[in-house]
Amino acid sequence: MKEDLMRLKEEAIQAIDNLQNIDELNSLRVKILGKKGELTQILRGMASLSQEERPVIGKMANEIKDDLESKFSEKMQILKKALKEQKMQQEFVDVTIPTKISIGSKHPLTLVMDEIRDIFIGLGYEVVEGPEIELDYYNFEALNTPPDHPARDVQDTFYITENILLRTQTSPVQVRTMEKQKPPLKIIAPGRVYRSDAVDATHSPMFHQVEGLAVGEGFTMGDLKGTLVKFVQEMFGHDRKARFRPHFFPFTEPSAEMDISCIACAGKGCRICGYTGWLEILGCGMVHPNVLRNVGFDPEKVNGFAFGMGVERIAMLKYGINDLRLFFENDVRFLKQF
Ligand code: DAH
Repeated sequence: MKEDLMRLKEEAIQAIDNLQNIDELNSLRVKILGKKGELTQILRGMASLSQEERPVIGKMANEIKDDLESKFSEKMQILKKALKEQKMQQEFVDVTIPTKISIGSKHPLTLVMDEIRDIFIGLGYEVVEGPEIELDYYNFEALNTPPDHPARDVQDTFYITENILLRTQTSPVQVRTMEKQKPPLKIIAPGRVYRSDAVDATHSPMFHQVEGLAVGEGFTMGDLKGTLVKFVQEMFGHDRKARFRPHFFPFTEPSAEMDISCIACAGKGCRICGYTGWLEILGCGMVHPNVLRNVGFDPEKVNGFAFGMGVERIAMLKYGINDLRLFFENDVRFLKQF
């Protein structure tokens, strides 16, 4: 029996030394020291021992049991520590490694809007905004465009109800501003506008405009021209020429369109400018007396000028972009060029 116990001890110590896994160590412990374990099996044979042998073997068995217990818990500590270290290795994060952060860039339309804004702020204009869902009254009626007016046909309107629509232009902000502010006033109103147009290289049902309005005493077409020529030179360079062509808008009289000398051929004539040497960039005019009356101003005392431009068109000319759809597809390869 002594030999059995000694063998058990030696084999157990070896097995413990060889084990590398906590679960296996636990099962080995049960297998040897558990209630139905190998040590218990051997001690069953105690009954057949003599009176003298019994305490000796008993003592020995207890010592072996204690030894093995401490051997098991020692090994358990080692395995647990190793597991912890392995985990730390696996989950190690070096917080000092420099990370590469890719920063986005401003959308070209935002860049152009910011630039337009800055130029007019430099000329003393204030930036205001108005609603995109607008009353027919502000979008048309108050701008001297009654229901049967032919000018409504060229702006295919998204109607929400009979009186409510998606604004087709930023011009209604003129009226909203004049209802709140007395002259002298100089404002620009950037924002989205909507027209029921099919998408192609030059059309989109949603696009952006910047409206401008100056109202005070004794304004002339000369003030309008000086302001817009200054704008063109800031936006497109000081060599850029501008010309004004008579046009019609219901809310201005007289009205004009402004052209700039072609960006591509500098006025010689090419495909981009349709061989005219000029590119149309905005509409403008002296504020119609009816518009002033509609907001309670006396056209005998105050007058002003107004203008409106398409942001996409300006951006296309400025950056040589030939398809308006590029602005709305949000392809990073396009956007990151600006
Ligand atoms: N609202 C016009 C349009 O969408 C642009 C415009 C023309 C605005 C003349 C004006 C203006 O303020 O005076 O086509």
